[in-house]
Amino acid sequence: MSKIATLEIDGNKYEFPIIEGTENEFGIDIKALRGSTGGVTTIDPGYKNTGSCESAITFLDGEKGILRYRGYSIEELAEKADFLEVCYLLIFGELPTAEQLEKFDKDIKEESHVDEDMKKILDGFPKSAHPMGVLSSLTSALIAFNPGSVDVDSEEEMYGAIVKILAKFPVLAAWTMRKRKSLPLDYGDNSLGYVENLHKMMFARPNQSYVADKIVNDALDKLLILHADHEQNCSTSTVRIVGSSHAGLFASLSAGISALWGPLHGGANQAVIEMLEAIKADGGDTAKYIAKAKDKNDPFRLMGFGHRVYKNFDPRAKIIKKSAEEVLGSLGIEDPVLDIAKGLAEVALKDEYFVKRKLYPNVDFYSGIIYRALGIPTEMFTVMFALGRLPGWIAQWREMRLRKEPIGRPRQIYIGENYRAFKSISER
Ligand code: ACO
Repeated sequence: MSKIATLEIDGNKYEFPIIEGTENEFGIDIKALRGSTGGVTTIDPGYKNTGSCESAITFLDGEKGILRYRGYSIEELAEKADFLEVCYLLIFGELPTAEQLEKFDKDIKEESHVDEDMKKILDGFPKSAHPMGVLSSLTSALIAFNPGSVDVDSEEEMYGAIVKILAKFPVLAAWTMRKRKSLPLDYGDNSLGYVENLHKMMFARPNQSYVADKIVNDALDKLLILHADHEQNCSTSTVRIVGSSHAGLFASLSAGISALWGPLHGGANQAVIEMLEAIKADGGDTAKYIAKAKDKNDPFRLMGFGHRVYKNFDPRAKIIKKSAEEVLGSLGIEDPVLDIAKGLAEVALKDEYFVKRKLYPNVDFYSGIIYRALGIPTEMFTVMFALGRLPGWIAQWREMRLRKEPIGRPRQIYIGENYRAFKSISER
């Protein structure tokens, strides 16, 4: 029997259906709330209690530390799948057959060139520009060069936009980095796999042939998989809400990139390394910074600790911690900043403040460490996150379009002035 929630306001009772997800999650369906109560709304800043949609893409249970894409556990996917398979799985709902994967790969490769005129736009940015701002702008600029991508009313047209962005986004990301480093832009090599090609486009030297490193590329592949989707987080909700106005895929993604940039979201991986550098420069006293993080009068937070949803442990952090140890070991890297990271994590995991508030190292704590070990510049860390999150954003945007969701338009409770008569400037 379906469940019902009853709400009582001033003695009047209202009933609302409770919907149940496939993992026994319950949500009170308040679609009829304003209509039946005469305009009463809900208020939930930060949407901590609000479901914005029904989705069949990603399941996570923050208490149990579960993360699954389309039913498959993140642990198994990180171990057994490659990033392109995960892209297909997230976007189309099933793991691809060999033929489907081959076609998907071929279709992406066919679109892997970026219009030469895009280089002029890239050239217009100062070298010091943050790569996330540049990437968001270039993603938006792609619309001008691919005008058909905004017409996404059919699945076929959507597919075209999807393979285009999967193909061109790594090129833009790599070019953004190369411009900062004064390296000539690289066009990639379609004979390589998706992740190897990304690595080549980022790191190939103009006067040396590119030699792929399996350890590096496997680590990158895993990192991209771990970041590929995380249900209705800040950037994904942004992508869905922008897309809900029927803005095209690239415009929605450009907004999502901006949302991801913030240090409380994807920007955390960069913030982690910057924090570790600052601690090192200040003499490496981790206890001092643990004390600062606990001090309510100090705005300092331990970057890479805590998560809005995971209040037990972040399953991605577990996988990535192991991977970080392997990568650092295989590459023989010794880095004082990494020692500070280890020290901080050890102390914080035992400290009552962090234990009581369930603040554990999150995925960004360790991803920053691996990116650093792989030679990726700090300001590119969030771009790496965006490259991983791309299929998740696409899948969520596609789902929103196929479900014909209404335009996203939250309500508010107005707390400003009541009506007042206009005062002319001499009366103010
Ligand atoms: N360092 C110190 N104290 C913290 C931290 C931290 N990193 N995170 C949370 N707290 C404390 C808060 O001060 C608060 O304490 P109080 O109850 O005594 O007031 C309590 O823990 C709860 O914190 P909230 O901010 O309410 O938790 P919320 O779920 O809103 O925030 C967030 C989660 C934004 C991730 C937060 O933990 C944070 O700022 N972490 C650092 C930034 C970070 O690593 N972000 C990456 C997130 S993961 C991702 O985007 C992939």
